[in-house]
Amino acid sequence: QTSFDIAVIGGDGIGPEVVAEGLKVLGALGSDVSVTTTEYDLGAARWHRTGETLPDSVVEELRGHDGILLGAIGDPTVPSGVLERGVLLPLRFALDHYVNLRPAKLFPGVTSPLAEHVTSKGLDFVVVREGTEGPYVGNGGALRVGTPHEVATEVSVNTRFGIERVVRDAFARAQARARKHLTLVHKHNVLTHAGHLWRRTVEEVGAEFPDVETAYQHVDAATIFLATDPARFDVIVTDNLFGDIITDIAAAVAGGIGLAASGNINPTREAPSMFEPVHGSAPDIAGQGKADPTAAILSAAMLLDHLGLAEQATRVEAAVAADLAERAGERSTSLIGDAIAARV
Ligand code: IPM
Ligand code: MN
Repeated sequence: QTSFDIAVIGGDGIGPEVVAEGLKVLGALGSDVSVTTTEYDLGAARWHRTGETLPDSVVEELRGHDGILLGAIGDPTVPSGVLERGVLLPLRFALDHYVNLRPAKLFPGVTSPLAEHVTSKGLDFVVVREGTEGPYVGNGGALRVGTPHEVATEVSVNTRFGIERVVRDAFARAQARARKHLTLVHKHNVLTHAGHLWRRTVEEVGAEFPDVETAYQHVDAATIFLATDPARFDVIVTDNLFGDIITDIAAAVAGGIGLAASGNINPTREAPSMFEPVHGSAPDIAGQGKADPTAAILSAAMLLDHLGLAEQATRVEAAVAADLAERAGERSTSLIGDAIAARV
C-alpha cells in the first residue's frame, strides 16, 4: 500500500503550526506515497465552543484511518487536566496505544547541554513507555476536600497483561538493535507490588530473548545516568509515569524538546497509532512562527515507519539530520519545514 489516509489533530498552541510542517514534508515525498488527510478539531477551541472534549463519534471516525498525526493538546484557558484527561489520554486508551515509543538520539551538529566528554560516546536510545496503565488510568479520588484532613489518592494500576505486552515489545525492539540491551527502569525498593510484577515479567519474557542482555535501574538512579552517561542506554522499558518523566530528560540531553518525537503505538494494528512530538502546546510562542517543527517532522517519519514505509522514513530522518548538521541562526517554523522538505 502506498496510499494512506491520515487523521490530523493539530490541537492547541503551536500544535497546528508544527503539524503543518510534518504534512509538508510528507507531501514532499513525491509520487511514491500519496497521503490524504482529514482534520479533526479537538482541543481548547472546541471545548470553549461546545463543551466537548472527545465525542465518541470522533473516536469511531479516527478508527477508520491508517494513522494519526497530533500536534499538542493543552491550553492555559482550560482548567488543568480537562483536555489532558478529556482528549489526549482517552485517545491513547481508546485506541490501546500501549507502546509509547520515544527515541532519543543526538544528531551530528546538535549540541547537548551535557559536557563534551559525556556526549563524545554518542547517545542513541529509545524509551518504551507503557501507555495505558499506571497512575494515568485515573483511579483515585479525594476525600474531605478543602479540610485540613483532605486525602487524595492516585492509584497506579499495573496488570500482568499490560506489563507483559509492552515488555515483549521492548525486548523485540532491543533484539532488532545492534546492542541488544534492555534496561528496566522502576522503583521496586519502594513500589514493591508493581515493582516486583515488572521485574518478574521482564525476567520471564526475557527467557524468550536469550540474546538480549537486561539490566535494572531505579528511576532516581536512572536520572543520574541519563545526565552523566546516557550512552549506556539502548532500550529502556518503564511504566507510564516514569516514562513521562525520563523522556523529558532524554529529550533535553538529546538536543532539546524541539527535536523529540514519539509514537503512541498499538502493535496489534487493531486501531490506528498516533504520532506526536513529546513537547506540549507552548502557548507562549503560539502563532509566532517560532516553534521548531523538527519533532513533529520526526514524528511523521515514525508514522511512515509504522506504515511499513521504512525507506521513506529513513529519507525524512536523513533530511532532518542534514538540516540539523547545518543549522545556524534563527529560522521560522515554516522555513525549517521548507528546508527539510526540500531535502527529502
Ligand atoms: C506527554 C505529556 C502528556 C503525558 C500530558 C499532556 C497528559 O506530558 O505526552 O508526555 O503526561 O503523557
Ligand atoms: Mn510528558
